[in-house]
Amino acid sequence: MRNPVLGLLLWSVMHTSTVWAQDLEVLHWWTSGGEAQSVAVLKKVFKEKSGATWKDFNIAGGAGENALKVLKTKALAGHPPAAVQMKGPQIQDWGKMGLLTSINDLAKREQWDEKLPKEIANAVKYNNNWVAVPFNVHRINWVWVNPKVLAQAKAKVPTTLAELFETADKIKKIGLLPFAHGGQAWQDATVFEELLLAIAGPDLYRKALVQLDPKALQSPEVKATFEALRQYSSYLDKNRKGLDWDKATRLVMDGKAGMQFMGDWAKGEFIAAGKHPGKDFLCIPVPGSEDSFIYNVDSFAFFETKSKNTKKNQEQLAAIIMDEAFQKTFNVKKGSIPAVPTTKMEDFDSCAKASMESFVKTSKTTGQVPSMAHQMASSSEVMQAVYDVVEAHINSNMSADEAVKRLAKSIREATM
Ligand code: GAL
Repeated sequence: MRNPVLGLLLWSVMHTSTVWAQDLEVLHWWTSGGEAQSVAVLKKVFKEKSGATWKDFNIAGGAGENALKVLKTKALAGHPPAAVQMKGPQIQDWGKMGLLTSINDLAKREQWDEKLPKEIANAVKYNNNWVAVPFNVHRINWVWVNPKVLAQAKAKVPTTLAELFETADKIKKIGLLPFAHGGQAWQDATVFEELLLAIAGPDLYRKALVQLDPKALQSPEVKATFEALRQYSSYLDKNRKGLDWDKATRLVMDGKAGMQFMGDWAKGEFIAAGKHPGKDFLCIPVPGSEDSFIYNVDSFAFFETKSKNTKKNQEQLAAIIMDEAFQKTFNVKKGSIPAVPTTKMEDFDSCAKASMESFVKTSKTTGQVPSMAHQMASSSEVMQAVYDVVEAHINSNMSADEAVKRLAKSIREATM
């Protein structure tokens, strides 16, 4: 298929005709090694508990860029999947269109209001109705490090951005890749928000990327972020276009690259490959952002259905996702921390424990901010505007001043 979007659409239309009442069609983008192992846990428990068939509708593409497009076509044509990986403002948008179904009875029976932190509960409710369930909290502001590469380069684990680039220089000198980075807009935007947090701090991050305040968007800190991004981009592989994030993680794992900026689903890849934190890889907060936390909550939303069977299966799936035993098994593999805070943390590794500690700490300060690059902070139009400007900047010699101007303008236009 020459045109990938057309291919996806065609596939989705063909797919519709094969869904039966006893099936539960689930749209998600968890297709990398670690992601697939995590979602396999859910498929297995769902099959055992419901007896129904999980109709897998997976659309590869990190951060759900492709999955979102397919969802739009299917849902607007009147054939939405029963359960869909979806988050933040998107849940509100689909809720507003009246297409999501409420699972309030189940939520009430199982006392979800008491079980979940308010912020997470609010993110999966529309108009005070439970329309989705949360799996986890991913921390975005991490750098994944191969300690053997650092030792080879005689470089130290960086604690400031200046040290980060010193370490990068040393890795470059021994002929290895300082940063593994895939060439896709969402990956560029992920690094942009991580650098912004490290340089500007959480308050300005919030003003710029959540409140979309024009003054904050044109602040010296945003300019400095584009400058840091320019410096960062000088260490990347020129042939990275189209490289998936998990292939980039693999470069770090295999000792071909020293570091990767990525949310902790990257840890899911290390774990799936049998690697151990502290030995084979290190997780360090992006230097400068130690006291802050960019959060990204994965959830499944449920679409309205006329079929009683489907509704029953939707509730069954929701109940499994909220179960503590499931939250533990799933998140140990996925790299994230559980959304249900009473889940026992003993079996989690040191990176997850550090993430939990930071999550609890930052929930008492202003240090928690939602991820823009992962659909938690804004409408998809605004997110796309940020993707476009950051991608254009990283792939050209656009000045930081020009990038700041374009960013403010594109965001203004996206909100008109
Ligand atoms: C994020 C999602 C994660 C992970 C990542 C890469 O948006 O929340 O669970 O899948 O994309 O695809």
